Amino acid sequence: MQRRVFLRVIAAATVAACGTSPSSQMSGPDAGEPPSDGEASCTNCLDLDDPSNAALTHVGGSRVVRVNNANLLVARTSETDFIAVSSICTHAGCTVRFATTQINCPCHGSQFSLDGSVLRGPATRPLAKHTATYDATTNVVTLT
Ligand code: FES
Repeated sequence: MQRRVFLRVIAAATVAACGTSPSSQMSGPDAGEPPSDGEASCTNCLDLDDPSNAALTHVGGSRVVRVNNANLLVARTSETDFIAVSSICTHAGCTVRFATTQINCPCHGSQFSLDGSVLRGPATRPLAKHTATYDATTNVVTLT
């Protein structure tokens, strides 16, 4: 049986809570396993067939993931479109939240557009924007 092995991204909240290194945060039967012959391996992908990514299987869903040492807010904005920005508010470091048409910071009220630009302060710097590319054939989002 052929399996795909994808890096299991861990919710940033879990990362912050445990404070462990990224490599030690992996868990489950695939953690640390090298890919078998013919298997795809991706260190910056979200497999939407993986139950941990269930929030991204519907439009309007989002989750915070840690990829390549960055905490990213990933959100599904249409059946085929996703956005990805830094989940760390540029004002004082709180975790921002997706709110359908914008991104909000719960700490002091900053608001950001879906491309990370500042709509309302006190934040003055944009959230770092990343690229999220969806492949409907594989049901995988690739983050860069
Ligand atoms: S930390 Fe986000 S507005 Fe202050």
